[in-house]
Amino acid sequence: MTYETLLVEQAGAVGLVTLNRPDALNAINTRLIDELNQVLDGFERDASIGSILITGSRKAFAAGADVKEMAPLCFPGTYLDDFLGRWDRVAQRRKPIIAAVAGHALGGGFELALMCDFIIAADNARFGLPEVKLGVIPGAGGVQRLTRLVGRAKAMEMVLSGRSMDAAEAERAGVVARVVPLAELLDQALASAQAIAAQSRTAVMMLKECVNRVDEGSMAEGLRFERRMFQAVFATPDQKEGMGAFVEKRPPQFGR
Ligand code: CAA
Repeated sequence: MTYETLLVEQAGAVGLVTLNRPDALNAINTRLIDELNQVLDGFERDASIGSILITGSRKAFAAGADVKEMAPLCFPGTYLDDFLGRWDRVAQRRKPIIAAVAGHALGGGFELALMCDFIIAADNARFGLPEVKLGVIPGAGGVQRLTRLVGRAKAMEMVLSGRSMDAAEAERAGVVARVVPLAELLDQALASAQAIAAQSRTAVMMLKECVNRVDEGSMAEGLRFERRMFQAVFATPDQKEGMGAFVEKRPPQFGR
């Protein structure tokens, strides 16, 4: 299967998607988000895939939603078509998704990275929500997600001024899991994705649910949910295998 805006491959148990609109710095148009959702649907169904990696080019993860596509849009149309509504399906995925970000991750590009479970950044990465400079605001959850990550002061300053931050600031602010040299980005992100794919699928998906729960409700509800998930994991063969292997001093062999 070939795509107009994406390159798709499988590296072991990792589904790898490369955003591929080099002439537009990977600006995200409707076609790209539809193709991405189609690919992610396939990865979710494919039992041989344990984790997903989304990346861009060395110059740009993605420089935003496609401004040329958006420029002529008007309110009733965006509302009736629920413009950007389909983007959020990326955040609803159950398998873990890592964003490997080099270069510009701006506007919708940053929002897409924030929908992933964590970001590994190259040292040349830049993150920002510059929509205010275009007379608009972010619409794919970026304000909500950025504010939860970095707190009100930094989020306010960034969205109101449109300024971007470099990789070092993003790491300090808790936006990215870690920063690596540009030349090592793909290898290190793939190694991380492969390590996750080698774990118990059930445990990994339960962990993703537990972390996401933090943003959805109260601490008390989150603690209860996490404990219940922990108790439920004892119904899985992977718990028997993982703990059994530890006791028997051998590597675990998780089912697929
Ligand atoms: N949409 C459409 N095309 C884009 C684009 C975008 N977001 N970003 C870059 N491009 C295109 C440029 O128009 C240019 O195409 P042409 O050669 O046909 O003119 C090509 O990509 C290369 O871009 P530049 O020549 O501008 O490259 P540069 O290295 O000089 O600058 C940049 C890089 C600073 C990222 C600059 O391209 C830029 O500011 N881009 C726009 C960033 C932005 O405002 N993003 C937010 C978009 S709004 C949004 O995302 C809404 C939302 O919440 C969903």
